[in-house]
Amino acid sequence: MFNKKTIKDIDVVGKTILLRTDYNVPMENGEITDDLRIRTSLPTIQYLLDNGAEKIVIIAHLGRPKGREEEYSLLPVAKALKKLLPETQIFFNYDVAGEEVEKTMADLPKGGIFLLENLRFWPEEKWNDASFAKEIVDATHADIFVQDGFGVIHRAHASTDAITKLLPSVAGLLLEKEIITLSELLKNPTHPFYVLIGGAKVEDKQPLIEKFTDIADSIWVGGRIAADGYKAESDKIHVVSEFKENADGEKCDISDSTGDELAKAITDDAATVLWNGTLGKVEEADFARNSKVVAEAIGKKEGITSVICGGDTTAFVEGLMQDNPDLHYALISTGGGATLSFLSGEPLPGLENLEDK
Ligand code: 3PG
Repeated sequence: MFNKKTIKDIDVVGKTILLRTDYNVPMENGEITDDLRIRTSLPTIQYLLDNGAEKIVIIAHLGRPKGREEEYSLLPVAKALKKLLPETQIFFNYDVAGEEVEKTMADLPKGGIFLLENLRFWPEEKWNDASFAKEIVDATHADIFVQDGFGVIHRAHASTDAITKLLPSVAGLLLEKEIITLSELLKNPTHPFYVLIGGAKVEDKQPLIEKFTDIADSIWVGGRIAADGYKAESDKIHVVSEFKENADGEKCDISDSTGDELAKAITDDAATVLWNGTLGKVEEADFARNSKVVAEAIGKKEGITSVICGGDTTAFVEGLMQDNPDLHYALISTGGGATLSFLSGEPLPGLENLEDK
């Protein structure tokens, strides 16, 4: 299922690891509002620490800044990491290469973590610039590159592509888990398999609907896409036709009876569920009801394989899990575009160039 080498296939003892994560977390007024991408990077970090890695240097991006824009600094992420790993020394630097980075590397103790600044402060990152990647490798004296930023593997950037030409490059545990679970949906899903599609951008969701029309047993389309009159091309696809409206007559959620019907179908029938896109405007409590009913039906069902993807949907489900820790999902995917690209069969440069098993 996963044909790339992972950190478990190599010897990390005494090695300096250059670890690419996806720390592109949502922020409001300098505060991280959802730390899923930070928490899910911990198993790889912990494995490296437990297995004798000498030093871990983490590279990541945040947002789409045009040059250095302080609001996109990764400093809040370094602080969040400190809270999650209280026993580990975490260093941060406002650069990604050069003298300051070299100095910090010299001071970094064994088992220490060093988070570098937002790679996208340098346009060379997006240009996939080989000398930019080399500067990072030279300043950090890294021995091995580990790609664990599942959410960025659809990008061919210096930190996902050029860097793999300079160091032995393997996958981290999050990347492996995401790919294995998502591959299962494509190649070997347990039936009956339900796909739920919501959200607003039909152009993003169409490849997914097309891909799963042959694989899934039942596809439900809700959200803005359905409200805007999505036309189904298969009788497997149920486009929701009843909605709850706001005072202005805008269709803001699927109807309660449709929500209940879908939740019951999942409870009674589904063995696998893939869900991308909320069914209503969940940011307004009045219109979150049916996404909640459906999320609970999925999360409470024993033995089901459930994959939740798309930033709005994962944030919504995670919010529900805080109030109800009994809800369980096989995978809350950390990828946005990467998950859609993988499921739609598009190229993934950040995965393809890792070492084969
Ligand atoms: C994401 O949030 O989907 C990834 O971090 C990739 O970010 P990007 O779309 O800005 O490249």
